[in-house]
Amino acid sequence: MVPANQWIKIKAPATVANMVCGFDILGFAVNNPYDEMEIRWMERLGDEPSITIINMDDYQLPTDPEKNVAGAALLALLEEYDEKLKEISIEKNILAAAAGNIPNTAAKIKFEVKINKLIKPGSGVGSSAASSAGAVVGANYLIGNLFTKDDLVRFAMNGEKLASGVKHADNIAPCIFGGVTLVRSIFPLEVVALPSPQLFVTIVHPQIEVRTADARSILRQKVLLKEAIKQWGNIAGLVAGLMKSDYDLIGRSLEDVIIEPVRSILIPGFDELKKVCKQAGALGGGISGSGPSIFMLSKTKEIAISVEKEMNQLYDGIGLPHHTYVTTINQTGVEVEA
Ligand code: HSE
Repeated sequence: MVPANQWIKIKAPATVANMVCGFDILGFAVNNPYDEMEIRWMERLGDEPSITIINMDDYQLPTDPEKNVAGAALLALLEEYDEKLKEISIEKNILAAAAGNIPNTAAKIKFEVKINKLIKPGSGVGSSAASSAGAVVGANYLIGNLFTKDDLVRFAMNGEKLASGVKHADNIAPCIFGGVTLVRSIFPLEVVALPSPQLFVTIVHPQIEVRTADARSILRQKVLLKEAIKQWGNIAGLVAGLMKSDYDLIGRSLEDVIIEPVRSILIPGFDELKKVCKQAGALGGGISGSGPSIFMLSKTKEIAISVEKEMNQLYDGIGLPHHTYVTTINQTGVEVEA
């Protein structure tokens, strides 16, 4: 429990959703880029708003909590606060609020959040997830970690719903848990943390905008059985490869026969980029989340840097402005610095 009015700092990592074959179920967090946030709680007076969002960057994202992804996630947390206090009080046979010195009802809490987005919105590396997940992990820390990580994933999914129209947790789960995660089910939520061998991640973010809602609306609603068989073979292969540290199996399984053929049309030079990155030694890769970023996994840092060179060369060649990152898998998820 952190006293009222005291700011805490939060680092919320970018995430790569889908991991090529695992649409809406697989994802991993990376060490760079990440969003910086600060949050504090104050006593809420009268009917003033329960959440204040302060943008510290130039993206001009909405500050109305109901229209801001961090706001939507925090509102979901506050909605369950009273119930949670009651539950804990019964379990521990004490008044949880009195023991923890926190307000005995959500009606008396106000959160103030400062957001400095270093992950560009619409880049395909979980920008909205970082804001939603960062906000609820920070708020939970302030109130003495009343909620579990699974609860926080559920709350943060409200931010994803706002951003893309659908609740999906393949960015939120790795952002909160760190590492590689499998979302086995959303309703009820079941997140499985997966181990992974050391992997280097190269990401290129071509400076075009692909809205997740648009990238979802173009997808086919039906798949052929033979495509589904290939896809679930790859998902199982990827999970097995990660668990057995079998790099070749990981590489072979990074194949998507359902989503990528449709979405790759939105990303200039996609097929060629994938080809040259693999020639440079990458295990494999594909669209990060709904794009436009593309990621590649490599066994060594040297290969990851060669892959970055290929990406730069290709996009410089066609005159497409872009940013690249060479990073590793983030194993901690959102970090709080009190
Ligand atoms: N699984 C989601 C999608 C991730 O591909 O639409 C969005 O970042």
